[in-house]
Amino acid sequence: MLVRVLGSAAGGGFPQWNCGCPNCRGVRDGTQRATARSQECVAVGADGAASFVLLNCSPEIRAQVESFPGLHPRGPRHSPIGAIVLTNGDLDHCLGLLSLRESHPLVVYATESVRRGFTQDNVLYRTLERFPGQVTWRLVKAGREEEIVDVDGRPTGLAAEPVIVPGKAPVHLERSRPPDPEDSVGFRIRETRSGRLLAYFSGVGAVTADVRQALSGADAVFFDGTFWSPDELPAQGLGTKRAEDMAHVPVGGAAGSLAQLAGVSAGRRIYIHLNNTNPMLRDDSRERATVAAAGWEVAWDGMEVRL
Ligand code: MLT
Ligand code: MN
Ligand code: ZN
Repeated sequence: MLVRVLGSAAGGGFPQWNCGCPNCRGVRDGTQRATARSQECVAVGADGAASFVLLNCSPEIRAQVESFPGLHPRGPRHSPIGAIVLTNGDLDHCLGLLSLRESHPLVVYATESVRRGFTQDNVLYRTLERFPGQVTWRLVKAGREEEIVDVDGRPTGLAAEPVIVPGKAPVHLERSRPPDPEDSVGFRIRETRSGRLLAYFSGVGAVTADVRQALSGADAVFFDGTFWSPDELPAQGLGTKRAEDMAHVPVGGAAGSLAQLAGVSAGRRIYIHLNNTNPMLRDDSRERATVAAAGWEVAWDGMEVRL
């Protein structure tokens, strides 16, 4: 299978439009050794399959589709996007759906809580209700592996099993409903023919036994690389939220994912969904050297991983 990273940054991207933190300034003016990144979105294609499956659908999806020839139309009205899988209802993960509104049938795999959060009381969702069957929601349940098929029921060659992770409701729903265990999931994506396994866990509040087990033995792991440290935003004067308030386990420190996942065996280990404040974004930082020494890579837009 081919895993193509279309976007590797957290919500806001890198640089972020209203951010003048040292990383964002440095990547704008070229004084930091760092590469701009768009918001997290990944395309996965089984070997020989006619279509790709998108993991999340970022607000930058239009440019991300253009950035990868594998996603370009092969006919006057066509898209190789066979299905879209959502890990949670955060806007950096699903706002792009509204940009795919040009009367094209979409298939979306998500938990019931994520589906409801996106469709309920959302007047803009009507743009995806222009004709019957414009969006087919296929609900996923923890512990149940689902074959991913396109709108005509054709197999994509991939299957997905959601794994519940510590998470939270999207920011825009926090005050209108209680949290739901199905708010945030990671996925084990299996190529059905070869059995090759991608563990995709881009938003994880804490490393639990279930998370560890879900990653173990995967051919590649993509993991939450939002923050290096718990107080990264307040320490830079960028608000009061700590990593745990946003349901992101930091990478560094004794309680961080680098230490917590040290014993987990996986082919490739890759951090994704990096917030623009994260020092790991700087190619010459101590933090980047630390993760590299531990065998972890940092995703970049355009990165391809073949499994
Ligand atoms: C997150 O990953 O915590 C969210 O994308 C934050 C946000 O929606 O601003
Ligand atoms: Mn996010
Ligand atoms: Zn910034």
